[in-house]
Formats: sequence, structure tokens, C-alpha cells
Amino acid sequence: MNAMNTISKAPRMQVRNLSKSYGAMEILKGINLEVAPGEIVSIVGPSGVGKTTLLRSLSGLTTLTGGEITIGSDVVSGPVSEIGLVFQDYRGSLMPWMRTLENVAFPLQGKGMPRARREEIARSCLADVGLEHAARQYPWELSGGMQQRVSIARALAYDAHILLMDEPFGSLDAQTKLVLEDLVIALQRRLGISVILVTHDIDEAVYMSDRVVVLNGKPANVIDVVDVDLGRERDQIETKSDPKFVQARNRVMREIMGK
Ligand SMILES: Nc1ncnc2c1ncn2[C@@H]1O[C@H](COP(=O)(O)OP(=O)(O)OP(=O)(O)O)[C@@H](O)[C@H]1O
Ligand SMILES: [Mg+2]
Repeated sequence: MNAMNTISKAPRMQVRNLSKSYGAMEILKGINLEVAPGEIVSIVGPSGVGKTTLLRSLSGLTTLTGGEITIGSDVVSGPVSEIGLVFQDYRGSLMPWMRTLENVAFPLQGKGMPRARREEIARSCLADVGLEHAARQYPWELSGGMQQRVSIARALAYDAHILLMDEPFGSLDAQTKLVLEDLVIALQRRLGISVILVTHDIDEAVYMSDRVVVLNGKPANVIDVVDVDLGRERDQIETKSDPKFVQARNRVMREIMGK
């Protein structure tokens, strides 16, 4: 739908028949999922259903028990530079002895770029998240919301085209959360990245997404994929008052609560 009109450099991600077990415990079974270039797709489901397990599987950080993930025409068999990761716990994700700029530039060392180029990229990504003024500060001098912006900038600096986010706003206060939701939407629109967002906040999932994927069951499977027909312009007040928003949110809630 509308996402297809976005000019996007993100490759298509395709998940076919993915299964994941821990020992004898089957967590995910027969998961099929597709993320088109430039889409925001949310993954929701009850606590413990396997959302983080799915996201880790998508990132190439963990081996699959079965199935296949492709990014463009490449089969994922380990960590991929196309993918950037942002987790809930911003406190543990930045290095406290490094200034903001160094935190963002650090992963680029592995790309063999000269320092000046790394810092130039880091500065530009900090500007993308509205933090150019905080380049010289240490993480512990920043608010939670600012630290999470730094984590996003770091993922972007690595030139990730697909951002995987696991409850990225879960530890933030309600207002900061809304601001960062809009920031990620704006970044998606401007940079053409794809975003896969795990969240337990159903309003957030519907508000931000082109599609919401609902996981449920043991082992977990995709029980519904809700197309969010709200256009690409989102507004915290207007969008959330739209009857289509309420309808989509109620449908997802019923599915998660088993009502
Ligand atoms: N490394 C691991 N080894 C063994 N079992 C694990 C491991 N990681 C997760 N599990 C189990 O897999 C199941 C799914 O966990 P997961 O963290 O993916 O759920 P979740 O949907 O992200 O939950 P939440 O909403 O609480 O974050 C749980 O039963 C959990 O105990
Ligand atoms: Mg989780």
C-alpha cells in the first residue's frame, strides 16, 4: 500500500517458515513474514510469547531451528550490516566512558574508515535525531530519551537500512515516548529505512505502523496481520481519534487478550 510509494534503499526482508526452539522448548513455529522496503511493521503479542526471540532471530544474532530469512537476495546466516538494533535498556547499551560522538562513531571503526570520516558521519546522525549539541557529553549526562536517541543515531551511523527495535520506548516517560515515536516515523520517511518494532503498547504499534503482526500461541505463530489504513501522515491526536485507528487497536487487543 502507501509504503510502496516511498523511495527506499532498504532491501526487502522475507521470513519463511521460521522456527526457533530453546532445547526441547519450541518458542516459534512456522513464522512467515515479509517487510517491504520502507515499511514500519510492528510485532505485538502477550508477554513471553517470543517477540524478542523473533527479533533476535531476524537480526542474525541467534541460529534458527528451521526456516530461512532473506534480505534482498542474501540468506541471513549471521549478523548483517544492513540491520541496526535498538533495545529497551538504553542504560546498558551505550559505553559510559565514551562521549556521545564517540559512542555513535565507535562501531564504524570496524569499517576501516579514517577517524575524521567516522566523526563526520556520527555528527550527521546525531543531527538526524536532534542531538548535534550533545556530541561532547557523556551518556550519564543525558536524559533517558536522549540516550535512546543516541542508540538510534548509532544504528543509523552504521548505515543500517533495516532498524530492529525491541520495546525501544518501554523505559521512557509517557511524553518522551510520544516524541520518540514521531522521531522514528520522521526518520523512516526521510531516510527510507524499514523499521521492525516490537512493542507491548498496542496504541503505539497501530500509530506507528503500516502493518501490525500479532503473535500468539505456544509455540507462537502469526495469528493476524492488520493493515493500518491511516495514510502515512500520522499525528498523535488526529490519528488516534480516527475511527479506523480505534478499530485496528481493538482488533489487536482482542486477539492478544483472547477475547
Ligand atoms: N536464551 C534463552 N534460553 C532459553 N529460553 C529462552 C531464552 N530466551 C527466551 N527464552 C524463553 O523463550 C520464551 C519467549 O521469550 P521472549 O523473550 O522472546 O518473549 P517476549 O515475547 O519478548 O516477552 P516480553 O514481552 O516479556 O519481552 C520465554 O518462555 C523465555 O523463557
Ligand atoms: Mg521481549
